[in-house]
Amino acid sequence: MSTAPAIPARLRRSRYISWFGHMGAVYLFHDLYGYLMQMSPDIAEMIESFSDGVDTKETVAYYKDKLGDADPQQFVEILVGHAVLVDPKEEEIDGIWAYIPIHGKWNIWRRKDDRLTFWTAWGERPEQQILLDAAETAIWDAFDGAKRLIELRHHHDNDKIVSLVRKLVHSDVQALKLSMMPWSVYAKRPAMAPAYLASTMPYPSWKPGTPVPPAPDLTAYHQTSITHADEQFDHQETTLSHLLRIPHPALGGRTYGQKLADVMMARGMVREGTVRVLEVGAGLGYVAKDVIATLTEAGRTVEYTIVELSPVLAAAQQERVGKETAKWINGDVLAVDLPEASFDLILSNEMAGDLPARQLTRADLGLEPDQGNVNREKLATFSKIAADRGVNLDDAPEPFYLMTGAFELVEKIGKWLAPGGHAILTEFGDIAAWPKVSTHLDHPELSTHFGHLHQLAKGAGLTAKVEFVIDLLDFDREQKGLATTRSHFRALRALAAGAELDLPKIGYTPELLEKTVGDKLDLTRVGELRWDRIEDRLMGLVPHEFKALLIAR
Ligand SMILES: C[S@@+](CC[C@H](N)C(=O)[O-])C[C@H]1O[C@@H](n2cnc3c(N)ncnc32)[C@H](O)[C@@H]1O
Repeated sequence: MSTAPAIPARLRRSRYISWFGHMGAVYLFHDLYGYLMQMSPDIAEMIESFSDGVDTKETVAYYKDKLGDADPQQFVEILVGHAVLVDPKEEEIDGIWAYIPIHGKWNIWRRKDDRLTFWTAWGERPEQQILLDAAETAIWDAFDGAKRLIELRHHHDNDKIVSLVRKLVHSDVQALKLSMMPWSVYAKRPAMAPAYLASTMPYPSWKPGTPVPPAPDLTAYHQTSITHADEQFDHQETTLSHLLRIPHPALGGRTYGQKLADVMMARGMVREGTVRVLEVGAGLGYVAKDVIATLTEAGRTVEYTIVELSPVLAAAQQERVGKETAKWINGDVLAVDLPEASFDLILSNEMAGDLPARQLTRADLGLEPDQGNVNREKLATFSKIAADRGVNLDDAPEPFYLMTGAFELVEKIGKWLAPGGHAILTEFGDIAAWPKVSTHLDHPELSTHFGHLHQLAKGAGLTAKVEFVIDLLDFDREQKGLATTRSHFRALRALAAGAELDLPKIGYTPELLEKTVGDKLDLTRVGELRWDRIEDRLMGLVPHEFKALLIAR
């Protein structure tokens, strides 16, 4: 017996749909429930074609062969289940009373007396404030994640409930989600909760029928798309080293650069006397500045060279480090010509994921769907280095990314290192996990398969090992870190600005945040501030996901 709901003979598109587009994907946001769905543009087109009401069967038949292998009937059933397509006779608002309002996960609000104000700053959209009056605040407080809207009907003005739900669920605000199930069902198993309950939509609007914004090419991105150095790291592309650029409790009061230098010296990775250091992709120059200072304080004479692709970032580095203190080579690290055996120490911090990679299928390497060995000749046409160094790719998923750029970098590092020299390459990734693309930034980024880099370095005759960055830097795991997303932190920053406070993007612990806000803001009246174990979450990053490849020649 089928339990699927009957599909009405005529359907129309909900009047509460907003569209968003980002890097080749489009997203539907249901402004009445908070549902979030990723789909291909042709399905978006089908949804739009239901407009004010059409015959369901005819429309399904029309789209029969127009969605690739996908079956339009199945989509229509899902879309009806999510109130994206509705019965034209139905009053859509009536549907919400059976649902349970659940506070969004990434809200920023401040409570003053009996009123709540929200701040939002989704993606690149302008910041806004949403002021609730006392009655609305009382309704918000009654949204306990357990009661259905209908249960609130007798205690609050019904029109106010509806208008508040509409306002707060809407993709402009995203402070509230409607759920069929109470939150208690998921409280002990958050992984079971439908994704939309904790998801947000920070991307730009998209209009069906118009081209979907494509992903920019990686190399071109760093050469030409970075126009504001500080903003790049504060908003777009925060790195762990950037969050820890201040003396930090998790590093025993040292900065990331200082601690890195301390550790390298303690491990005997830095020779006495003159040390020739190469840093690849130096961001805003904080690591360079602190490494140079720490090594110099320890009696080394430091000759520091930076290879940097972005002219804007190179200028920021020169300002921070001092033009006389280091030497700059502007350009792509994979294209520069440096003498062999000319560096004692090479650092590449959180940049390898920006290098080019190739998306391939198993067949491209002569592999069968779930067995076989890589054909080295075929592999050599994509990465001669991987083939020469014997990187094992037999377990490749389908499709997979070959980190051709990172391979070249490790090979070059091996050549540029002087005998007795050391290198540290850190990045987001894992020892055995294949590279995954993350698209939440304004450019695609790839996680690193450290096992491949490790094999490559060994194949090149180097000594190599992989460690967790949090172990390398001896993180104090007792610390707690503020959990944010980019938009969540932007909104918090907007709230703080209202109290004449500039909140820099640093890896906040509770003490650091209290120290920064001083008496300008009562943090007990501000939410949602969630504190996770620092290794699990620090701002938008997951510190334990960062690894380091340690190389010695
Ligand atoms: C994610 S940032 C990391 C910056 C810094 N190391 C840190 O830890 O914050 C990547 C850096 O590498 C630079 N970069 C990216 N691709 C590069 C390339 N092919 N050659 C040289 N530098 C590159 C970027 O411009 C940027 O400075």
